[in-house]
Amino acid sequence: MKNPFYIRELPFDAPFCNREKEINELVRHGKNRMNVILYSPRRFGKTSLAKRAMSVLSKEMTTTIYMDFMGTTSIDEIAERIAVKTYQYTYAKENLFKKVTRIFSSWRPVLRPDPETGLNITVESVPGRRGRIILEETLQSLGKFSSEAEKGCYIVFDEFQEITEIKDSITIEGIMRSEIQQHNKISYLFIGSRRRVLLDMFNQKKRPFYQSGINYSLNPLNTDILSKFLVEQFHLGNKICPDEIAQKISERVHGYPYYVQKIAYFIYELSGKKITENDYYNAFKLLLESEKPLFEVMIQSLAGQQIALLVALAKEPTGVPFSAAYMSKHQLGSIGGVQGAIKKLISLDYIEKSQNIFSIVDPIFATWLTLL
Ligand SMILES: Nc1ncnc2c1ncn2[C@@H]1O[C@H](COP(=O)(O)OP(=O)(O)OP(=O)(O)O)[C@@H](O)[C@H]1O
Ligand SMILES: [Mg+2]
Repeated sequence: MKNPFYIRELPFDAPFCNREKEINELVRHGKNRMNVILYSPRRFGKTSLAKRAMSVLSKEMTTTIYMDFMGTTSIDEIAERIAVKTYQYTYAKENLFKKVTRIFSSWRPVLRPDPETGLNITVESVPGRRGRIILEETLQSLGKFSSEAEKGCYIVFDEFQEITEIKDSITIEGIMRSEIQQHNKISYLFIGSRRRVLLDMFNQKKRPFYQSGINYSLNPLNTDILSKFLVEQFHLGNKICPDEIAQKISERVHGYPYYVQKIAYFIYELSGKKITENDYYNAFKLLLESEKPLFEVMIQSLAGQQIALLVALAKEPTGVPFSAAYMSKHQLGSIGGVQGAIKKLISLDYIEKSQNIFSIVDPIFATWLTLL
């Protein structure tokens, strides 16, 4: 029997836990042509949720295109991603593809056979088109393309905060905002996992995107609903998961969808017909082991004091990180250093301040830090 849990990206038809309210709300905003800023810590299910909303909207004939800005390093690359995704989306629809070729005049499609996917579609810019001009033209092309779409467009910009890492990012934000605000047949969904960085883009008065959408926070999955989901999935996989163990898993990972899938995946592999506490503990160890390389990368480029603060907060969340007692107990060095570390760690979304307490965002990362 196939393992019913997923470690990699969730396929469209895979069982999805709850999120009905969220899908409905996103779909409604999409239909109303509102722009939405969807944010949460990493691995909460933003991308999966956006894809579900896209799937509902596309059944209703809205043109839905997903674009991911992770790893973009220049203004030209942003324009290129927008163009290539639009070409890729329309390729299977002959008339639309011709239309895009006509409208996106700054970019030519390049089609090459690909042994894996059958066809690889990339784009090439026309000579002389670079920098802000090509971004403006590409967004204008997207606007024109959408104005001809009968039911409008739903465009998802995933990992949108990444554009702030690019040199001249404020210029890029400015260009994007001034073009996007003219796109009245497009609803944009801006997604990001570095919450402070993304929210600052949309909520700081001086920033171009100021107040240009609805802030939409995605919460973790409700642990009771999640436990039921787990029991059902194990049942579909022909195994029995007692309610208490399902509840334990859901609570231990604070309702994080990614960790739930992963730990359940390991449990399924380890267990017999009926899941035991021991399976849960062994799977938890495997989970920690499998996340270790990523956690190591996360702290690799941090300064010693920043790591010391992370470890301190993992062991002891606090409302008073600057108090002499806390600083000396955890050997945190100078106040200035701790202030700088807090700012940096919040911008990376490694720590958060909630109800006046600073703590580590990711519960599994926190466990790993306490073992350092
Ligand atoms: N509602 C859900 N039901 C079941 N599993 C889910 C659900 N939402 C997300 N997942 C699981 O969590 C994993 C992470 O989800 P996803 O990639 O959508 O999160 P994300 O918030 O976009 O993460 P990142 O911030 O890293 O981009 C998915 O691969 C899937 O296995
Ligand atoms: Mg994502």
